[in-house]
Formats: sequence, structure tokens, C-alpha cells
Amino acid sequence: MAAKTTPEEATTTSAPAAASPAASPGPPLFRPGLEGVPATQSAICDIDGHRGVLTYRGVPVDQLARNSSFLETAYLLIWGELPTIFQLNDFQHEVQMHRRVSFRIRDMMKCFPASGHPMDALQASAASLGLFYSRRALYDPQYVTEAVVRLIAKIPTMVAAFQLIRKGQDPIQPRDDLAYSANFLYMLTEREPDSLAARIFDSCLILHAEHSLNASTFSARVTASTLTDPYAVVASAVGTLAGPLHGGANEDVLDMLDQIGSIDRVEDWLDQAIASKQKIMGFGHREYRVKDPRAVILQGLAEELFVRFGHDTMYDVARRLEEVAADRLGPKGIYPNVDFYSGLVYRKLGIPRDLFTPIFAIARTAGWLAHWREQLGANRIYRPTQIYTGSAERPWLPLESRPASS
Ligand code: CMC
Repeated sequence: MAAKTTPEEATTTSAPAAASPAASPGPPLFRPGLEGVPATQSAICDIDGHRGVLTYRGVPVDQLARNSSFLETAYLLIWGELPTIFQLNDFQHEVQMHRRVSFRIRDMMKCFPASGHPMDALQASAASLGLFYSRRALYDPQYVTEAVVRLIAKIPTMVAAFQLIRKGQDPIQPRDDLAYSANFLYMLTEREPDSLAARIFDSCLILHAEHSLNASTFSARVTASTLTDPYAVVASAVGTLAGPLHGGANEDVLDMLDQIGSIDRVEDWLDQAIASKQKIMGFGHREYRVKDPRAVILQGLAEELFVRFGHDTMYDVARRLEEVAADRLGPKGIYPNVDFYSGLVYRKLGIPRDLFTPIFAIARTAGWLAHWREQLGANRIYRPTQIYTGSAERPWLPLESRPASS
């Protein structure tokens, strides 16, 4: 289990918190970014940030990345247990049956500006599913199962559709003979992928499928707690994932490596970046004090791809950056996170840079849905409090009485 910091142990920006509001009338605890504040109880995922161990429902993620498939892992996350062969076949079949999206959604996507970011296109398309499946029966197991299947099945189709639409092409239909990841790569590139590429891509989805109460999952749980529909839950989470401090960092890592350019420039670049208080993209994590275990696995996957499809000199720059950063940032517990090597894997697979975060969303939909179900299982609407720092009560003034400078 991860070493947990209790609210009382951590530094606060106000007077020490009391055990309960009733026990003391003192100022409430305020911790920016809610660092160390438990906002829910969850049985889905555990992170040991000191040992660098990540488990989904108790199963170490490296074992899943090596042996499982994304759909099996999604099943584990969402329903709590590894599926039997019958359950897995059934789930795979259901997902396969629901991969297509309505022509109305495809037509809507054709109206999106081609220059728009695919994450914005995905957020709008995911939200639009709520228009088509508007029955909201959150406590009907059949409804929940259908919503889970639809979202897992259709999100990749929508990501691939926007990619073709923005190039001026018509989206292509899913192929029933292809497994989940192979089918996504096929819909994206219009070519049946190499089996190693499809397997490695599937492992990437497993590694990104869940990560406890990160910003987008918190967003999903807050949205879920209002008892809105699961399409709105996923759409709100997609919007949160898009930011550069969260899922959007994987794109920025490659931009940064481009900017550095070559291994001999790494040291100077890093020293300058640190001196100007720049955040190094793909480094640091609220939960880890060691290298993110997902980064370790992704680095291995990148190397497998290089052996098969040729080396990438950008990888040499990344490795040198990791080496130099270990010296400069390591003492502060800042090491590569999941985003540091994922972009290099996707680049080798020929995936455009601005699709990296939508791919993260395809994977994380499994985690968001697991949290959606868990939230509904013991729901109480999220409604935190705040510490008001504004003006004391004062009267409204007519325009002519207001001071000129205000
Ligand atoms: N480069 C340089 N310094 C850093 C970095 C970094 N990437 N990350 C943290 N620090 C320093 C930060 O400057 C601060 O130093 P000081 O105390 O001297 O002011 C200290 O570490 C704490 O930083 P923080 O921003 O308060 O830490 P946080 O827990 O709020 O932020 C983070 C976590 C992931 C947002 C942050 O590490 C970061 O911005 N990293 C770069 C963006 C990135 O790679 N994001 C992907 C995160 S993993 C995948 C995901 O969640 O989607």
C-alpha cells in the first residue's frame, strides 16, 4: 500500500485542522490542489509512489501490460474481477457490435474545423452520445452495461473518424475481424497494422487505463455525483485530460525534445530551463517519488519497436535528458512520468502528435467508467467548501456614485 499522508501531517496554509468540524470552530483546512486530501474511498487502483508500484484491482500493471489485453483490463477495472473466458468473449463481442457511430455524429464532426484540436472534437462527440442514448436509468444494470460497452466501443471510432475527416476523407467503418487495438489502428491509418505494433499499442492502452484520483478521474466522479448520464461524465473527463499538466503533456514532450534537438545540447538546455523555472514536460508526479513504473514499461516497448522498425535519434535525446535530469531533479523526487516515453512509442507507430492525448482518453475511458460505477454505488454529491477571500459585505452603488478609477 502507498504510504499515505494524513491531513494532519501535511503542511497547511491555515491553522491546523480539527478532527471534525464539530470538534473545533477554527478555520477549515486548505490545501492547494487538494494534495494529500482523500476525496473518496476507492477499491479500483493503488499507487505506491515510493516503491513505484501500480496495481489495478490488486493486479500489478506490469503483469497486465505483459499478459492481458486492453479489453480484459477494462473488464477488470470496471467490473472488479478478471473475466472468465465466457465473460471476456461476451464483452469483446458486445464491444465489437457497438463500434459504429451514427452517421449523424459523423456528419456533425464534418462541421468541426479541421484545424481544431482532436481532444475538443472528442469531447464534443462524446457528449453528443447523450443525445442518442438519452434514457437515464443509472441504477438499471442493463443500462449501465450498455453505456459501458458503448463508450469503450465508440470512443476509438470517433477519434479515428475525426482524423480522416480533418484530412478531407470519409471515416472508414470498423472491421469485425480485427481486435480492439488493431481495429483502431486500421481505422486511423486505413492499413491493417503489423501484429507487433498492434500488441504494443494495446499494452500502451493498458498502461494508461487507470491511475486513481487524477484530475480527469476526479472530474468524472464530480460529474457522476450529480447523477447525470455517463456520456456527460466521460465528456467532462476528456476536457480535463486535455490540459498540458495532465494528458496533454505527452504532446509537449516531443515538442520539447524537438526543441533540444541533439544530445550535446541536453545539459545546457536543461540547466537553462531549470534556471528559468520552466517545468520539464514528462517529468514529475504528485504521487511518485521514483520513476513512474509506466514509464519504465513504455521505455521497454519503445525499444522493442526500434529493434523492429528502426532507431529514433529522438530517443537518444530523451535518454540523455533522463540521465542529466536524474542529477538535477532526482533529489527532489522528480523523475520521468508516463508521458515521457509514450510519445516516442506513438511516433514510431506513425501516429500524429495531436492524437496522443485522444489515445490517452481511449484508454482512460475504462478507468473513468470504473469510477462512475463506484461513485454511483455510494453516491453523495461533491460539494466542497471554500475560504472566502473577497470583499466584506458592501452596498451596490449607482454608476454616478462610483469612484472614477474603479
Ligand atoms: N520540471 C521541473 N520542476 C518540477 C517539475 C517538472 N516537470 N514538476 C515539479 N517540479 C518542481 C516544481 O517546480 C516545484 O518546485 P519548488 O517546490 O521548488 O517550487 C516542485 O517540484 C513541486 O511541483 P508542483 O508543480 O507543485 O507539483 P504538483 O504535484 O502540483 O504537479 C505535475 C505535478 C505533474 C503537474 C508537475 O510535476 C508537472 O507540471 N509536470 C510537467 C507536466 C507533466 O509531465 N504532466 C504529466 C503528468 S503524468 C500524466 C498525467 O497525469 O496525465
